[in-house]
Amino acid sequence: MIDADAQKTAAGEAAALLVTDGMTLGLGTGSTAAKFVEAVARRAKAENLQLTCVSTSEATEALAQRLGLVTRALDEVDVIDLTVDGADEIGPGLSLIKGGGAALLREKLVWEASLRCVAIADASKSVSVLGAFPLPVEVIAFGHAQTAKRLTAALTEFGIVLSPKLRLKDGIAVRTDSGQVLYDLACQAIPDPKSLAAVIKSVTGVVEHGLFLDLAAEAIVAREDGSVVRRNT
Ligand code: A5P
Repeated sequence: MIDADAQKTAAGEAAALLVTDGMTLGLGTGSTAAKFVEAVARRAKAENLQLTCVSTSEATEALAQRLGLVTRALDEVDVIDLTVDGADEIGPGLSLIKGGGAALLREKLVWEASLRCVAIADASKSVSVLGAFPLPVEVIAFGHAQTAKRLTAALTEFGIVLSPKLRLKDGIAVRTDSGQVLYDLACQAIPDPKSLAAVIKSVTGVVEHGLFLDLAAEAIVAREDGSVVRRNT
């Protein structure tokens, strides 16, 4: 039996094997994505791989640069060959909840610029229905409480009654790398993620949500016995 940290390492290392010389890579954010970044940096050094990396957050950018990876801004590359990133939940059909680490907007922008996206995770992230993990929604900081009210109303009309919870740290609203705030939606269960995604996006002031649907081509999930499962559904 291996613990969650070792599972993250196993998933990150397995994903690093997908990297080939000359690739432009998208680097995810979070503790699992960091294992991938470390494994890629080790491979790049050992095998002299020429890689160009695009980071999904300031934190990942700092890590990649510290490890000697060559980084570029998203607009400095044409397409990204492969993006590898963590997830908060991996549900049926590789539907995902992301954004627990506050990076969902840049993550989604990098994912959507990528030819192939792979989610990596420890065993605890696999679920049969999304929603136990609160769904993050990034909201424009200006008038965000008003936006939250309209989001609540839109959700109620959709049949989900909840109060979006402003994400705080030390009593202060968390700001994303793009300067916005986050609301977390304790949905409990999301049986129809596509419809919910459309409702959330319809609210003025919402920038993006953490539902990543039809974006991941594969998930690499480590198990407690140390093995790694590759899923494409
Ligand atoms: C960052 O905003 C997130 O999308 C992360 O990728 C996600 O929260 C998974 O993070 P961990 O790998 O740290 O659990």
